[in-house]
Amino acid sequence: MNPSFLLGGELEVRRVGFGAMRIVEDPDEGRSVLRRALELGVNFVDTADVYGAGRSEELVAEALHPYPPGLVIATKGGLGRGFQERHRDARPERLREACDESLRRLRLERIDLYQLHRHDPEVPIEESVGALEQLRQEGKVRLIGLSNVSVGQLRAAQSVTSIASVQNEYNRGLLTSEDVLAACEADGIAFLPWRPLGEGLQSPAEEIRWLLDRSPVILPIPGTSKVEHLEANMATVP
Ligand SMILES: NC(=O)c1ccc[n+]([C@@H]2O[C@H](COP(=O)([O-])OP(=O)(O)OC[C@H]3O[C@@H](n4cnc5c(N)ncnc54)[C@H](OP(=O)(O)O)[C@@H]3O)[C@@H](O)[C@H]2O)c1
Repeated sequence: MNPSFLLGGELEVRRVGFGAMRIVEDPDEGRSVLRRALELGVNFVDTADVYGAGRSEELVAEALHPYPPGLVIATKGGLGRGFQERHRDARPERLREACDESLRRLRLERIDLYQLHRHDPEVPIEESVGALEQLRQEGKVRLIGLSNVSVGQLRAAQSVTSIASVQNEYNRGLLTSEDVLAACEADGIAFLPWRPLGEGLQSPAEEIRWLLDRSPVILPIPGTSKVEHLEANMATVP
């Protein structure tokens, strides 16, 4: 099994990344989890503007900035925040704003992987992805990814630009994205299963190993708020 993957054909990442959604629960422990993750060889961290209403991105910067060479940070935009009227908001103007806010919180000049969090049914996906492509051309984003998409939405996005990753819910107990995974395999696109450990949590190590063996394009991003759990999860990584 190959222990690394070339994201977008250019960024080498280890097959097991870290999902930073839960680090907001206890910020001190969250910063420790992030630092320990890097010590254990993680070089791919996934976050989003909505996790803790921006707090997850801030904690990534507080814990890890200045970032070591080779660390790949992925974030997302396209969901509304707080009590905003639109729960999903992937209008081009909002994505531009969201990207600028993420750059500021992450203390970055360019985001390695910027993902459309979820398709906004009020905006054609080609328009949302077109905005991300423009951000890429302006140098604010290096690679573009999608999240929570169908094969049809992936194909529509690919008609606009090159897609480096897809992040859908997927684990041994929830195989609803098999067709999307097959499309990613065919195109060499990274497939980042979210909720990789599933609901049962019998053996996180076994779940991670199963995903790694399932497909060479799968990069699980298990999340935890505890150093102890992180260490157990990373002990499974070759
Ligand atoms: N794109 C999307 O729409 C979307 C949606 C959800 C999540 N995500 C991404 O996917 C990442 C992972 O998703 P997730 O956090 O929902 O699911 P997960 O990684 O499958 O599971 C996290 C849960 O498992 C527990 N856990 C982790 N390691 C453990 C261990 N060794 N022993 C016992 N319990 C353990 C965590 O609790 P403790 O904190 O107590 O360890 C937490 O309750 C997120 O961080 C985020 O980056 C994306």
